[in-house]
Amino acid sequence: MTRDLIGLAGLDTDQIRRLLVDARAMAARPPMWRGPLDDMLIGLVFLEDSTRTRVSFEIAAQRLGGWTIELSGRGSSVAKGESLADTVRTIEALGVDAIVLRARQDGAAEEAAGVLECPLINAGAGTQEHPTQGLLDAYVFAEAHGRLDTFDLSGLTYAIVGDVDHSRVARSDIAAMTRFGARVICVGPESMCHASIADLGCVVERDFERALQAADAVQMLRMQFERHEEAGPTGASPLIGSLADYRAGYALTADRVKHMKPSAAVMHPGPANRGLEIDDFVADSPRALIRRQVTCGVWVRMAVLAQLVGKG
Ligand code: CP
Repeated sequence: MTRDLIGLAGLDTDQIRRLLVDARAMAARPPMWRGPLDDMLIGLVFLEDSTRTRVSFEIAAQRLGGWTIELSGRGSSVAKGESLADTVRTIEALGVDAIVLRARQDGAAEEAAGVLECPLINAGAGTQEHPTQGLLDAYVFAEAHGRLDTFDLSGLTYAIVGDVDHSRVARSDIAAMTRFGARVICVGPESMCHASIADLGCVVERDFERALQAADAVQMLRMQFERHEEAGPTGASPLIGSLADYRAGYALTADRVKHMKPSAAVMHPGPANRGLEIDDFVADSPRALIRRQVTCGVWVRMAVLAQLVGKG
């Protein structure tokens, strides 16, 4: 394994498989497994909001015997303009053994890794990658289709729907799913799902219903208003005509679910904009694996911490 985890695109298939195999082993263990991180301190530097990733890294570190300290943008010297490099070096100087970083800007994970001596784990940076989300999504997709023994996803189709261009989850999912042989379809309007995303090894589809018929899982992306200029959670984004137009084309509604194969799963990395990209009926249906994604995220993050930071 490498010292840092910046993105899945930079790992080879065996490295990704080893993390998934270790995550599977973590799932089979009793919740507390002292040892790998005994007496180690993990710095959780979350300069952008998070619920799932931040809390699951905290739980993962504690289950491995480690301790965590947290720093957020608000209330820290980041709010006074301290640079990313100075911030992470300060946390390292306080004695942490690794830093888990979430940041708003592209390139943040590479920049931080470049100035640190301790391992750096990317917990979502800009629009680039969210590698532990890609790992947990591959884990859940494999589990849903009985592929946890090998993680071979060949013959399966995974559809990623919505605001693909602004999504670090989409990029990590494409890297993970295609490595294990899945066909990946990215679906969305041109303003949010540019044809160039196909350069990453996926297919671009504008017709959501056609993608739904083909998919073995549908990953509904959050509309990332904070990355759209002049957009707000209740208003239309400049990238779509109106929220009603967007829903008409790309929301996963009760009617649209009827186009899915009976065995196909609904996924969402969270947080979801219920009533926009996904309806309550779908998000709370038996085929929705959204909470399973959260649960598996702990095991994936345990595997990452144990491999990159742990003692043997
Ligand atoms: N999926 C995800 O990264 O969720 P959080 O922003 O809550 O961590």
